[in-house]
Amino acid sequence: MASYKVLVVDDEPGIRMGTRRILQNFKVDYPFMDEFIEYIVLEAATGEEAIEIIDSEMPDIILLDNKLPGIQGIEVLEYVKKKLYDIVVVMITSYASLELAVKATRDGAYDFIPKPFTPQELRGSLENITKQLFLKRMTQKLNKEGKLIRFQFLSVLSHELKAPLNAIEGYLNIMKEKQFGDNVDSYKDMIDRSLERISGMRGLIMDLLDLTKIESGKPTQNLQKVDITKIAGTSIDTMRPYAIQKDVDVYLNTKESVIMEADAKEIEIIFNNLISNAIKYNKQGGRVDVFIHRDDKNIRLQVSDSGIGMSEEEQSSLFQDFVRIKNPKTKNITGSGLGLSIIKKITEMYHGDIEVNSVPDQGTTFTIILPLERTAIN
Ligand SMILES: Nc1ncnc2c1ncn2[C@@H]1O[C@H](COP(=O)(O)OP(=O)(O)OP(=O)(O)O)[C@@H](O)[C@H]1O
Ligand SMILES: [Mg+2]
Repeated sequence: MASYKVLVVDDEPGIRMGTRRILQNFKVDYPFMDEFIEYIVLEAATGEEAIEIIDSEMPDIILLDNKLPGIQGIEVLEYVKKKLYDIVVVMITSYASLELAVKATRDGAYDFIPKPFTPQELRGSLENITKQLFLKRMTQKLNKEGKLIRFQFLSVLSHELKAPLNAIEGYLNIMKEKQFGDNVDSYKDMIDRSLERISGMRGLIMDLLDLTKIESGKPTQNLQKVDITKIAGTSIDTMRPYAIQKDVDVYLNTKESVIMEADAKEIEIIFNNLISNAIKYNKQGGRVDVFIHRDDKNIRLQVSDSGIGMSEEEQSSLFQDFVRIKNPKTKNITGSGLGLSIIKKITEMYHGDIEVNSVPDQGTTFTIILPLERTAIN
């Protein structure tokens, strides 16, 4: 069990004792916390006493009355601000003027609780503050350890897996209870939807495997002279059933070999993702064109489609983990939003670049530019 120190600064003993009583058995928890947080209450009757306790005890939260016998609450607030202490200050005050409220807010007061307050009001406010403070400190800690990105990644990932699992669980329970009777056919729709969700999760897991492989980096890279055209052909063959199902034609427009030093698996992952997107975000009867160009400096892998396209704004966050564009045209298309971020990570390993050209309702061209020199990771 963790605890936060709450300092109550008020010259009325009733308020101090009341606060102590209200917080005595109060605990807060939150999904990301692995333990409850409880409160240790400290008391100060004057601003001077408060400053002493702040310096010696370093509370986490201060409940601060403004009207005090000696120095005013607002001066205590200024002190905390000046010292850059990581303390959340809440003003508890019976007649806060607008002027005081503005000044206190400018000096970093987090909230106002008007006096007299009910136990619920105090608890509600402390619950919010505790979550804020916990998340802020967690963020700082993770940032320092370079783990924030990982944390965000895992939160999104668990969310992405939870939704389909909940759906499947729901359908299975309906079937278990035979809510639509004994005939299996009545459940066809649910079975189809469950299978679809399972295939979505499989896709996500495959993407994750690719990501893990990439992020573990160098040791798995197997750099050899490979024929990019041949790899594109393999990838098109892999995607063929999907293309037929979606009624999209895929053409490999480069016939000659293009040789480059690379890891064949990684190049295949690039093509698989670009071509699967080009099929997935296409129209019925649409086409996909794959080109491989080579000049003195670079090799360009290009995949063009005649699909739904993207607006400028939609293109801006495309390469981040789990980003999927939400609009009426993509509403019924499933995916995990990892494909392009995987491509980006691979491209970076080759010190390459990605270009996107897209026009809504006309189509999209992705070009991966891989420099011929320094193709290995360093
Ligand atoms: N060729 C394309 N045409 C139109 N939109 C595209 C195209 N390629 C990608 N997008 C948009 O970019 C988003 C991100 O693509 P990305 O490949 O990363 O994820 P995804 O296809 O949704 O899922 P998956 O991880 O299964 O590939 C897609 O959701 C889609 O909205
Ligand atoms: Mg994709």
